[in-house]
Amino acid sequence: MGTAVNKPGRSELPRHVAIIMDGNGRWAKKRGLVRSAGHAAGAETFRKITYYLSDLGVEYFTVYAFSTENWKRSEKEVSTIMALLKKFLLEAIDTMEKKGIRLKVLGDTSRLSPELRALIDRTDEISRRIKSGLIANLCINYGGRDEIIHAIKAWEADPERGELSEESFSKYLYTAGMPDPDLIIRPSGEYRLSNFLLWQCAYSEFYFTDTLWPDFNEAEMDKALEAYAKRERRYGNAK
Ligand code: FPP
Repeated sequence: MGTAVNKPGRSELPRHVAIIMDGNGRWAKKRGLVRSAGHAAGAETFRKITYYLSDLGVEYFTVYAFSTENWKRSEKEVSTIMALLKKFLLEAIDTMEKKGIRLKVLGDTSRLSPELRALIDRTDEISRRIKSGLIANLCINYGGRDEIIHAIKAWEADPERGELSEESFSKYLYTAGMPDPDLIIRPSGEYRLSNFLLWQCAYSEFYFTDTLWPDFNEAEMDKALEAYAKRERRYGNAK
């Protein structure tokens, strides 16, 4: 559990937390390790923070695991990340029901291997049986612009699409039916959105920290939640 003294109360707790899991490569380099060791450590952090947010009562947790641009990395690095995803999905299949955590993969899964897609079908099936608790969204082959194009195509192809509005359009995004992220966290000292949740971030609060993702922990999460609890959200309204 976290160590912060003033834990945010439930009313100040964000419903939806999103994180850009950045800094795995630098974390590994600092330790003289290969990049894949950084990704493995990053996957551990994801597991730890998922359980922590679930315990706190956060409803949605979305992470950027692999972007539409990450295919440009070396074949070795891409295959390492895909292998970690496979390991993670297999573990999720065994534990989701016990932990009461639903797992969703957001992104264009058509480019993933048939093996990974089959595992995602299984986690989807298990998620449908779980009726409450945290929804963890893993963004894989995800890009915010790609998601918007995908949604436009889906909207166009839907004979029952009706009037176009911000609300009706949201139903064609990968995040259909979910609230927008209240808090977006980027570790590792970078101040960019990198094509993450472009539509959904309209009124999100942002939190940045120099901590590298593999070093992020419950105490760091508490700091981000405390910062969030102090923000005044006005959604364009006057004070
Ligand atoms: C960014 O750090 C991280 C990624 C591109 C991959 C994130 C993937 C994982 C954490 C592992 C797979 C996930 C799960 C949940 C199984 P970077 O490599 O860009 O770091 P750097 O900027 O320091 O080089």
